[in-house]
Amino acid sequence: MCKNVMSIENLSIYYGEKCVVQHVDLSLKKGEILTVVGESGSGKSTLLSAISGLLNSTATIETGTIYLEETPLHENKTMYRVNRKDMTMIFQNPGAFFNPMKKIGKQYEQYLCLHGVIDKQEQKHIQKMMLEKVHLCDVDRVLNAYPFELSGGMQQRVSIAMATTFKPKLLLADEPTSALDVTTQADIVKHFIQLSKEETAILMVTHNMSVASYLSDKIAVMKDGRIIEYGNRDDIIYRPKEAYTKALIEATPSLSEVENG
Ligand SMILES: Nc1ncnc2c1ncn2[C@@H]1O[C@H](COP(=O)(O)OP(=O)(O)OP(=O)(O)O)[C@@H](O)[C@H]1O
Ligand SMILES: [Mg+2]
Repeated sequence: MCKNVMSIENLSIYYGEKCVVQHVDLSLKKGEILTVVGESGSGKSTLLSAISGLLNSTATIETGTIYLEETPLHENKTMYRVNRKDMTMIFQNPGAFFNPMKKIGKQYEQYLCLHGVIDKQEQKHIQKMMLEKVHLCDVDRVLNAYPFELSGGMQQRVSIAMATTFKPKLLLADEPTSALDVTTQADIVKHFIQLSKEETAILMVTHNMSVASYLSDKIAVMKDGRIIEYGNRDDIIYRPKEAYTKALIEATPSLSEVENG
C-alpha cells in the first residue's frame, strides 16, 4: 500500500489558554489533493503553519505529531529542519512571502541558488517557464518589479510559481486562489492538478466549495478548531452528514443544483 507523504495524529495547538486546533488527524498520500474548508477563525491557517514549521512563537503544540513521510517534524515542542524542496507553502497573504526591499527577480534567483541552480541562464529559463505557467506573461516586468509594484493577485501568482518550481513532495496552500479573478483561478487549479499528477501531494485551504469540489480527492471540514467531517470528495459533496457541511454546500449554488439533481 502507498505510504503517506504527510500524516497528522492528534494535533492540538493553543494560543495562550485558547485551544485553536483540537485533536486533528489527517493524512495525505503521494499525488493526493486534500482541501480544508471551514469558517473564518476555525484554525485552518494555524494548522498549515504548524505543518510548515512557521507557527507563530506565541502558539504551542500541546499534543500530537506531524510526520513528513516517516519523519516526525516536531518533538518536545521543537521543530526539526525540513528540506525546503520537499515541502513548500503558499501563504494566505502573499506579502508575507516576499522581502519588500528586494526585486522579485532577485528573490527568485536567491531561491533558485539556495536549491542548487546557480547558472544564470538556467535561472532565467526556469523563471520564465514558471511565471508563464501561472499566466504572468510579461516576465521581464514582473522580475524587475518590487513586490509593492505588483497587485496582490500577481504577487500570489509569483509565490505559487516559486513554491511549485521544484515539484515538492508536499505543497501547503493557504487560500491560494482567493485574490485571483475567475479565469486565473481556473488556471491555477489546472496547475495544481498537473502537479498532483506529477506526484506532489497538496494540502489546500479554501473558502471556495466549487474549487474544493473540483480538485479534491479528500475534503476536511473544520469548525471551532476541530475536523467535524473528513472523507472522500464524493462522500462530503453528495452525502454530507454534518449540518454545517450541508449548509456550506447549499450556499454554493452550482453544488446544491448537482445535489438536488
Ligand atoms: N497570533 C495569534 N495570536 C493569538 N490568536 C491567534 C493568532 N493567530 C490566530 N489566532 C487565533 O486562532 C484562531 C484560528 O485562526 P486561523 O488564522 O488559524 O483561522 P482560519 O481558519 O485560517 O481563518 P480565516 O479563514 O479567516 O483565514 C482564531 O481564533 C484566531 O483569532
Ligand atoms: Mg486563514
